[in-house]
Amino acid sequence: MFGTYTLRGRFRQEKHSDHAREDTMDRSEAEKEIQQLRAEIEYHNHRYYVLDDPVVSDTEFDRLMHRLTELERSFPDLITPASPTQRVGAQPLGQFATAPHTIPMLSLANAFKEEEVREFDSRVRKLLDTSDVDYVIEPKIDGLAVELVYEKGEFISGSTRGDGYTGEDITQNLRTIHTIPMRLFSHQDIAIPDRLEVRGEVYMGKQEFRDLNKKRGLTGEPIFANPRNAAAGSLRQLDPRISAQRRLRMFCYGVGQMLGFTAETHYQFLELLRKWGFYVNPLIRLCSGIEEVITAYGRLSGMREELPYEIDGTVVKVNRLDLQERLGSVSRAPRWALAYKFEAYEETTVVDDIIVSVGRTGALTPVAILKPVVIGGVEVSRATLHNEDEIARKDIRKGDTVLVTRAGDVIPEVIKVILAKRTGTEVPFRMPEYCPVCKEKVVRERDEAVRRCVNMNCPAQIKGRIRHFASKRAMDIDGLGTKLVEQLVESGLVRNVAHVYEVRKEDLVGLERLADKSAGNIIASIERSKNPTFSRFLYALGIPHVGEHIADLLTESYTDIHLLMNAQEGELMKIPEIGPEVANSIVTFFEDGENRESIERLLRKGVDIIYKKTALSDASLVNPMAGKVFLFTGALTSMTREEARKKVESMGGRTAASVSKTVDYLVVGEGGGTKLEKAKALGIDLLDEAAFLKMVTGPNSP
Ligand code: IVH
Repeated sequence: MFGTYTLRGRFRQEKHSDHAREDTMDRSEAEKEIQQLRAEIEYHNHRYYVLDDPVVSDTEFDRLMHRLTELERSFPDLITPASPTQRVGAQPLGQFATAPHTIPMLSLANAFKEEEVREFDSRVRKLLDTSDVDYVIEPKIDGLAVELVYEKGEFISGSTRGDGYTGEDITQNLRTIHTIPMRLFSHQDIAIPDRLEVRGEVYMGKQEFRDLNKKRGLTGEPIFANPRNAAAGSLRQLDPRISAQRRLRMFCYGVGQMLGFTAETHYQFLELLRKWGFYVNPLIRLCSGIEEVITAYGRLSGMREELPYEIDGTVVKVNRLDLQERLGSVSRAPRWALAYKFEAYEETTVVDDIIVSVGRTGALTPVAILKPVVIGGVEVSRATLHNEDEIARKDIRKGDTVLVTRAGDVIPEVIKVILAKRTGTEVPFRMPEYCPVCKEKVVRERDEAVRRCVNMNCPAQIKGRIRHFASKRAMDIDGLGTKLVEQLVESGLVRNVAHVYEVRKEDLVGLERLADKSAGNIIASIERSKNPTFSRFLYALGIPHVGEHIADLLTESYTDIHLLMNAQEGELMKIPEIGPEVANSIVTFFEDGENRESIERLLRKGVDIIYKKTALSDASLVNPMAGKVFLFTGALTSMTREEARKKVESMGGRTAASVSKTVDYLVVGEGGGTKLEKAKALGIDLLDEAAFLKMVTGPNSP
């Protein structure tokens, strides 16, 4: 056998010589390559995030980033804050520094009616003493105003609007936003200003907002009332690594100070911003005269629902910059611009009832039944309350008068209770102990804010469960798709997964649009699915937290489903990678009487599980790789990653996707990166390719 100590020693030596090679790389050569890489990466970043039109694959992009990281590691003094490697989020701050604005960031006067917009136009024309004025109309993004400062083309700092005169320095967080260029793109015919202050709106898209709230709902963190609050909360994080995860974007629409450069019109200036690499809203239009503005407003208003981000109106701006200057500003708002807003997506109404709905995965979600109210043209009669913690936090009671928003196509939300309207007759809410659909006892899992119905036969979950059960990577029943599952459940033929094996051809033919031949095919594929591996079978059951990987792990320690059905949490947690959450979920699932009965029924109906032949303990005696966890970094020369993975698995080992304490060996190929650092820190044994090959081919091989 080989000693891991020597392997590590060998590894260290090799790494050492690697460094020597890079150290001898000419510094100026490295600098040149670094510059080139940065420009290339920022170009692709822009294609991806701003233009939504990438020209390279993710792998190629990663390769460039990897190379840059490597070079910067060898020449750390060449790292600059504007390097794309610095977008990941720097160290947390204690507090934000204050950042005064060179030129105050004004706010806008509001208009809600066409009449008010016409008055604005008359005022402008009168003050300028002219008959026609060009305007630019822009979507009014519902986010938060931010200023970016560039010196000699490089992003140096950025701040929030604050009170208009002084904001907070949020430079580190802004660096994590991919639509913000770290360096202005240079063009032959456009000079780079010595100093440029660019203004715009940081926002969170509707989908990102929904995803974030969903995640927070599960962990019991407070829900954000709207994407604007979510964006603000994310930007004002003292830990930039959190901002980096929030997938924020920024549209640019204005300028503060600009030294060494001028433009004639606002529209031209927006064009310039685009060329420098900023994200400028593509719906911005140039209008000659107020009639065109009103038409454009109507068009934008019609698009409001479908846009992937929230807009709360439009902003109308006088196009010529000299005219803007002549108009000036009064009481902190410019006379050359106007916010022409849409109807607010907010109304007050009464909570008639609080009901509980059961989702496809068994999660119980409280829902407010509202006295119907029209919000932004749509009638709203329900709003999600997310979970019991959220209800407690907002203290929402049956009978309360509440403020509700409907943010675009986002599900309506109760923002807050209007406490002044309380009469004392309102009834506080309590989550049920039993599933409102199947009446089984519900469980609240550790570290989760939601309660779940864990009965796999609960009618509220059954369609989704059967779809999952039949899916390709589970029991692989060809032809049992969404439509058919729906018909089977709705006709009452199937009420739990075991019923799938009781379906007869005649039953299928009786269903809508199913020909004799296809019914036969489906019956055949149901038959074929009767010999699943233990791992597929476990995965098919849809136990919360048991995906394919965990299912696989379980099959190594358990050689019969009944042993697993009776397993205790402590015992399960002895398996590497199985923590208390997963163990608890497994035990809870098998404790449920209906679940146990369904499994027995499946076995009675002829499902014959294929178990692994050798249990782990036997295997490890004959094979040193059995049960060991391998992780790969860098490229191997003798085989692909996939081949290596298969090799490990064929010898009873397992592979991991990331560094953790459960990893036994890190196999280091060429160009291994961050995994290596982490593995070293955790004291994981390192294998080079030769040592790995020796291990897979056996110690006696040459
Ligand atoms: S121009 C002096 N343009 O609306 C001009 N603002 O209600 C000031 N906003 O603080 C801003 N989209 O946060 C402008 N296309 C747009 C905008 C926009 C959103 C926000 C901005 C501003 C607020 C004023």
